[in-house]
Amino acid sequence: MLTLEKVDVNGADRAALLDFMTSHHFPFHVRSRLSVMDVQEMIDDGDFHDAEHESHWLIHPEHGRIGLVRLEDLEDPTPLFDLRLATSWRGQGLGEQALNAITSYVFGRFGEVTRFEGQTREDNIAMRKVFERCGWLKEAHYRESWPVAGAPAVASVAYAILRRDWETGTTTTFEWNDLD
Ligand SMILES: CC(C)(COP(=O)(O)OP(=O)(O)OC[C@H]1O[C@@H](n2cnc3c(N)ncnc32)[C@H](O)[C@@H]1OP(=O)(O)O)[C@@H](O)C(=O)NCCC(=O)NCCS
Repeated sequence: MLTLEKVDVNGADRAALLDFMTSHHFPFHVRSRLSVMDVQEMIDDGDFHDAEHESHWLIHPEHGRIGLVRLEDLEDPTPLFDLRLATSWRGQGLGEQALNAITSYVFGRFGEVTRFEGQTREDNIAMRKVFERCGWLKEAHYRESWPVAGAPAVASVAYAILRRDWETGTTTTFEWNDLD
């Protein structure tokens, strides 16, 4: 089972965080390659750690750190996340374990959170499958809203899970065409 370990962003983990964020390629992120300066700027802006943000290493029981999750909007009832597995740990089903561990952490730690949300590019099929496997529901398909360098924008797809669904292991759906 994967566990979460808080990143000591401004202390012992700063170098490891810089290394992780700059040494992997994230093809489905708006900025797919980050420089040391980019990440330093993110750290200074509080994107990894401030009142609204937390970052955690994803710890595998045998292999140690396999990725990182950044939580955003933690003072809202609907926070968001940014999940990044290290390149060598992708494609092995660990994304599903990671999202389940992250969801349990967020609902367990933040009592006022009623729903948890994530967005990804329409062509990030692995992430979209992970959402579905974990019982998250697709709630929106924002056409042409995800900028792609040198290519037309693609859609951004939004998924969420409700606290009450997480507690009961169900997925509450709704009627898309509710005016028909
Ligand atoms: C996105 C991410 C979390 C997915 O986790 P993962 O463990 O690598 O996911 P997997 O590769 O096991 O894929 C999940 C499922 O999607 C399927 N899948 C993946 N790519 C696919 C494709 N192009 N077409 C069809 N199915 C696909 C896999 O076969 C798998 O299904 P299976 O278990 O039945 O075989 C991980 O790859 C990652 O961190 N990527 C980089 C950062 C990123 O894109 N993060 C998302 C931002 S929110």
